[in-house]
Amino acid sequence: MQELAGKTAVITGAASGIGLALARIFAEQGMNIVLADIEQQRLDAAVTEISALGVEAIGVVTDVGSGESVASLRDAAVEQFGSVQILCNNAGVYTGGNLWEQTEDDYEWLIRVNQWGIIHGVRQFVPQMISQGDACYIVNTSSMASMCTLPFAGIYHMTKHAALALSECLYHELSISAPQIKVSCLCPELFNTGIAASSRNRPEALREENITDMHKMSMDAITDATANSLSPRVAAERVLQAIKDETFYILPPEDNPWSATANSRLEDLRLRRNPTMAPPAI
Ligand SMILES: NC(=O)c1ccc[n+]([C@@H]2O[C@H](COP(=O)([O-])OP(=O)(O)OC[C@H]3O[C@@H](n4cnc5c(N)ncnc54)[C@H](O)[C@@H]3O)[C@@H](O)[C@H]2O)c1
Repeated sequence: MQELAGKTAVITGAASGIGLALARIFAEQGMNIVLADIEQQRLDAAVTEISALGVEAIGVVTDVGSGESVASLRDAAVEQFGSVQILCNNAGVYTGGNLWEQTEDDYEWLIRVNQWGIIHGVRQFVPQMISQGDACYIVNTSSMASMCTLPFAGIYHMTKHAALALSECLYHELSISAPQIKVSCLCPELFNTGIAASSRNRPEALREENITDMHKMSMDAITDATANSLSPRVAAERVLQAIKDETFYILPPEDNPWSATANSRLEDLRLRRNPTMAPPAI
């Protein structure tokens, strides 16, 4: 998709981090922007910032874990702008620890946001895009965690592997049934965002959190690693380029340490050897 001006982008998790960087870069292209997030205050601030760039922007408080909420997001976008050409299923959350020590609420929360968030986006927006009949694009945010398996972040890895698998299947299905709708999967390495403080938006009903040593270690590690990492602008630039080039896998450069970690897993599979623990040297 080359020409973006005047078209409409819907971005979930748009009040912070990579989602907000996506909103900025699409606004710079002259798109109408629909920012969706569960956090009202930051969402309002983001809408003010994006509107100041001279484009039309609206904010819709949305819980991507609810199909009803994502259907309302679609309705609000279509009511305001008539159609939607780009959907970024980007909202995501993190928690860590040993798999057997994490609570059912930990599992439920990450599956709700990281998996159901994308499922609801696909179920609510793809029929709308098909009915429009024009060229459209869906970008699902997964992670390099989808391309490898490391200890102490198992639920996150599991949900991000699911996000990648769903995106690849969607790519195949749309290429058969509605080839005007393209798909990419964003697999970021580490970016300086609010992800380490994900629990700020954790629902009260899923509050029971494991406070084990491994949980603390995992949260400290992600806090340090993301604080010393790339600006989310870099991720947004990769997404924009991928949309223009119609590139499915949006990956770090080949010389990035996460690429070696992903390749190590591919080698495990190719050689039928047991999983190698290959954390990136970051
Ligand atoms: N930052 C990284 O290093 C990194 C690496 C790989 C993948 N990712 C992925 O990038 C995506 C964006 O995360 P980020 O790093 O910008 O973090 P972030 O915390 O800065 O932004 C995530 C946004 O999602 C919103 N959100 C949380 N739950 C929601 C819900 N139920 N409904 C709607 N919105 C909700 C949050 O309010 C927040 O604004 C996530 O899918 C994350 O897993 C991030």
